[in-house]
Amino acid sequence: MSNHDLSFDDYDEVVNPRPEENDFDAVLAAAMSRRDVLKSIFVVGGMAAIGGTSVLPRMASALESRFAFSPIDANALDDITLPGGYLSEVVVRWGDPLWSGAAEFDHNTRGTGASQEMAFGDNIDGMEVFPVGGRLLLVVNNEYTNRSIIWGNREEGKAAEEDDVLKGKMAHGLTVVEIAEGENGWTIVKDSPFNRRVTPDTEMALTGPAAGDELLKTAADPQGTVALGTWNNCGNGRTPWGTYLACEENFNGYFSAEDADHQVSAELSRYGVSAEDWGYGWAQIDERFDVSRHPNEPNRAGYVIELDPANPDSVPRKLTALGRFKHENAEMVINKDGRVVVYMGDDERGEFLYRYVSNGVYAPGGETDSLLEDGKLYVAKFYDNGSGIWLELNPETTGMASMAEVSVHTRIAASAVGATTMDRPEWVAANPNQAEVYVALTNNKNRGIKPNAGGDETVVGGPNPRAENIYGQIVRWRPTGADHAAQGFVWDLYAMAGNPNLHDDLYAGSENITADNMFNSPDGLKFDSNGMLWIQTDGNYSNEDDFAGQGNNQMLAADPVTGEIQRFMVGPKECEVTGMTWSPDRRTMFVGIQHPGERGDSHWPEGGDAVPRSAVIAIRREDGAVVG
Ligand code: FEO
Ligand code: CA
Ligand code: CA
Ligand code: CA
Repeated sequence: MSNHDLSFDDYDEVVNPRPEENDFDAVLAAAMSRRDVLKSIFVVGGMAAIGGTSVLPRMASALESRFAFSPIDANALDDITLPGGYLSEVVVRWGDPLWSGAAEFDHNTRGTGASQEMAFGDNIDGMEVFPVGGRLLLVVNNEYTNRSIIWGNREEGKAAEEDDVLKGKMAHGLTVVEIAEGENGWTIVKDSPFNRRVTPDTEMALTGPAAGDELLKTAADPQGTVALGTWNNCGNGRTPWGTYLACEENFNGYFSAEDADHQVSAELSRYGVSAEDWGYGWAQIDERFDVSRHPNEPNRAGYVIELDPANPDSVPRKLTALGRFKHENAEMVINKDGRVVVYMGDDERGEFLYRYVSNGVYAPGGETDSLLEDGKLYVAKFYDNGSGIWLELNPETTGMASMAEVSVHTRIAASAVGATTMDRPEWVAANPNQAEVYVALTNNKNRGIKPNAGGDETVVGGPNPRAENIYGQIVRWRPTGADHAAQGFVWDLYAMAGNPNLHDDLYAGSENITADNMFNSPDGLKFDSNGMLWIQTDGNYSNEDDFAGQGNNQMLAADPVTGEIQRFMVGPKECEVTGMTWSPDRRTMFVGIQHPGERGDSHWPEGGDAVPRSAVIAIRREDGAVVG
């Protein structure tokens, strides 16, 4: 099998095989006996049992629909499909230059290291729009690049020269670009003084408990306070003080060792770092990515980054207080007592769900740096009865030597306190109308089959009710007393994706999943200003077998009150739909289309023989009304 065809998680498994689960019969038996328990969760519900009133999804038959569109069918077209009355345009694509002196994208060469550094990065994920001094700044994560596409001009899609490797490296990071709405829709503003590329080489300040710790010191940075760059930025967050949060996810796959037999430490192995990278080859052009020479360098990645887009010269901050893992997004809420709470998922099979609570309180216009440097870190434990608790991670609870160690080896700390292994936590989204939070658990084929990378069992049950979970689910919880800093919460399953055309058991999905709205692998989640929850998918787009009838990856809207879910958009072939935000007037929704044609079967957005290009699209209504 070619490594090109493997997902990040699959690749980690090839490089770092997990121990096999021995007692397979017992695992299956547990899965079967879970059904009755699960039914009882659906019927009476964890929240119902505790709160007295059922809040579980019910179809909206008796209620007025809050959907402002007619749902669309699934399809497998190489195009964007929207409901009647909606239109879209491309705002910016991978390789579009941000400055007028830089070269336009070249479909033959797919650019150079120098052109890529001056251009919009690849594979769009999290994004936000910031109004700054009468201008609008779009900030976007450029998560990674598909080697088969960016090096598609070379033999077998592999780098042929050092500059190819540099081009791939410069396609990663963040892009800040001013945008403007004209007669023909949204375009970027070339040469804006705010335009900026943040790359894997941009200087960053290490902050929080691990800053200056031995674990972060390297030959190039003996103080352990200045790290270079960010890469594999997946989901995002934003703060009420106008900064952007970018989350480092699969940071491990960029490190390698010249000696293929080099053994990394157990701590690095927990994060999937090994002697072999994923084919990016960065160590060939930058020796800090050689883990045998610089074993602490991987400890300086895997964080949430804070960026101030209003100041193009600002030094981004790596926030070690929020823990080190494969961060998906960072959903911030200001708690009713003023403390800053950040919910975060660790997207790998059987990893955990986290919460950060600041020690200080947010005051508009006040000092904010300490709010993301000084606080407490927690991990979630779910009980089958619909309740749960947050377990604090500190030296006393974990047996670790210091908060620095907890902040760097966060996964190991969470294993030590017995947190609940989850089915790949992707985006977390907080309901703006009440203290209620949702997480997309995208899928987990290893549930009930294999432990996680730390050896923690992946028991079937609770918020992860299906063995070999190929479809994914959305779990939600409400903190005790509507207090996001409380220890306790109650939870239920908002939706279990499935295929009701094929299955009549748990794999059919929850009752709000129908033949008309079915999908798999929920990933992006965000609430709009009307309190509707938008769901983006990153799943199996084969449209065959267990996924027959589900078509390409897509975007849906969900009513948190009624449980109703309707399909809003279908993306082009072989893409993932990820990242969304709105213009300040809410008349435009910006959406990311990541890796169209990742297996070679798309020419979106330009069509013809064009190279497929990840792009941000703007979605508007023909009548000019708000879109969420
Ligand atoms: Fe980059 Fe978990 O998705
Ligand atoms: Ca994701
Ligand atoms: Ca995903
Ligand atoms: Ca992706």
